[in-house]
Amino acid sequence: MSKIPQEVIDGILDRTDIVEVISGCIQLKKAGRNYKANCPFHNEKTPSFVVSPEKQIYHCFGCDAGGNAINFLMKYENIGFPEAVEVLAGRAGVQLPKYTKAAGQGPSLAARLYEVNKMAAAFYQNLLRGENGRNALGYLEKRGIDTDTMSEFRIGYALNRWEELRKYCERKKIPAALLRKAGLTIPSEKGKGDYDRFRNRITFPIFNERGHIVAFGGRVMDDSLPKYINSPETEVYSKSNVLYGLNFSRRGIRERGCAVLVEGYMDVIIPFQHGVTNVVAASGTALTERQVSMLKKYTDTAVMVFDADQAGEAASLRGLDTLIAGGMKVRIAALPEGEDPDSFVRKNGREKFEDIVRAARGLFDYKLDLLVEKLGVRDVGGIADEMLPTIRKVANAVVQSDHLKRLAERLGINETSLRQEMGKVRPDYSRRVAAPSEAVLNTRAYRSSEIHLLGLAISDKRMFDRIRGELGLDRFRDMNVKKVIDIVSALFGNGEKRINPGKLLSRFENDARARAAVVRAIAKADISRDPEKVLTDCVSCVLKENRDEDLKDLTLRLKEAKESGNEAEMMELMKKISEINKEKVA
Ligand code: CTP
Ligand code: MN
Repeated sequence: MSKIPQEVIDGILDRTDIVEVISGCIQLKKAGRNYKANCPFHNEKTPSFVVSPEKQIYHCFGCDAGGNAINFLMKYENIGFPEAVEVLAGRAGVQLPKYTKAAGQGPSLAARLYEVNKMAAAFYQNLLRGENGRNALGYLEKRGIDTDTMSEFRIGYALNRWEELRKYCERKKIPAALLRKAGLTIPSEKGKGDYDRFRNRITFPIFNERGHIVAFGGRVMDDSLPKYINSPETEVYSKSNVLYGLNFSRRGIRERGCAVLVEGYMDVIIPFQHGVTNVVAASGTALTERQVSMLKKYTDTAVMVFDADQAGEAASLRGLDTLIAGGMKVRIAALPEGEDPDSFVRKNGREKFEDIVRAARGLFDYKLDLLVEKLGVRDVGGIADEMLPTIRKVANAVVQSDHLKRLAERLGINETSLRQEMGKVRPDYSRRVAAPSEAVLNTRAYRSSEIHLLGLAISDKRMFDRIRGELGLDRFRDMNVKKVIDIVSALFGNGEKRINPGKLLSRFENDARARAAVVRAIAKADISRDPEKVLTDCVSCVLKENRDEDLKDLTLRLKEAKESGNEAEMMELMKKISEINKEKVA
């Protein structure tokens, strides 16, 4: 739980404009009083993501994401509450006192690891520029990297010595344990102090999405092996959670609406230097789900660039299923024999590279052609075995159906049997939606009424007063609605004339369900044409539900009273039941 007092958060939100915050991340279009955009949190073609400057909240009608500026940053940047507050405080020029960190505790381990990695990167950069870095600098120049690019990517050089970094850090009073935790040093087996992990290698800092250095890759400058060594997994680094280059390319990816996926560090750096600013690398591993979901915040389209021999491997294509399953549109581009993006761009320039990216083919066609070429068109079983799992992962049913049809045509077999074949390997995520029962429908109408009323209560004090008078606040049954209405009541009770929904949300920092209730409620209140009528209808719906519940309860108690022969209680209960029944008719 955060230690930041509510007043401080309110103060920051007062000085924050959610429209400014969000438009720094995605492109917003004015639409009436609000702003619209394609939702950054799910895949869509028509914008259902709405930002309200008046209410200081955002809401997506498609995926139901919603919240205030803090919630947006948390979700978009993948950061925690205190970090998001810190970012906004920085933007708003609000000085955050120490309470972001629990009293007595220093910065978090993650923050200290970022710091020590940053220090190490600067240390290696200096060595590259120094007397002993000449060879290394020459190597990088020979590979076509500009000095500007070296600085931007903070490329450096680790000397051919065992304790250079360690000793430097000792002098700087940086704890040895921290260096070890960062993976920069390795404990020696004889127990005689630690030694540097990176020696006589070019150092490539690996950044996380937000530009903190989380690890390093180190490359030899000749043909010795291993070509690269990388930091081990640490508190802040997991190979599967990082896309190399994303901090540099995320802007370009969003602007161009597409990410170019390559293999290695140099395949990011050289194209980027030449102006291909939407390129990222999974750094020699198959793409993970986590990486796909990181990419999806910026685009739903990816082009994988393979070198020619790799592209011939059906196994490497199987990895692409992760992208498809993540709802990405994937295309494949193949480079000429023997080239990788780095060498290709250096030889042929940016335009030719982008031609190849543009000419990329859809995964379906690409994979099918490849299989037909490798296995021969008569190996129907072999081809189907490879193709069906891919097709099965296509989320869009129409596209999936089209793929099946085309595969059947190409293989010259019956589509139905192909479909059955796919059914056999169908995973359990095939959902069947049953028609909702009447009881379920009633509950839904009722829930929706509570949410509607909550929205009206938040939007207008007069409405709130009427709801309190005509219904009573203790009539709400939904836990989340209850929680929110209590806060709303307290705010109005404190003399607030209007409630700022963005601020209201910040009261539910640790309660995603309550936040969802607020956002949905406000969205509902926003689209209701005739709030007076909505109020009347919803109040009577909630009252009816309450009556039905009471009736159930009374009937049960009556049965018990009968069984135990308690006449007085029976009379009392029957009277109550008939009163409720009369109300129902009225
Ligand atoms: N890689 C690794 N460890 C290795 C080899 C490769 O981590 N021993 C990762 C690196 O991220 C590397 C990527 O896999 O960038 C691709 O490997 P490779 O194609 O061999 O290297 P290149 O990136 O082409 O490097 P270079 O152009 O410098 O040879
Ligand atoms: Mn290469």
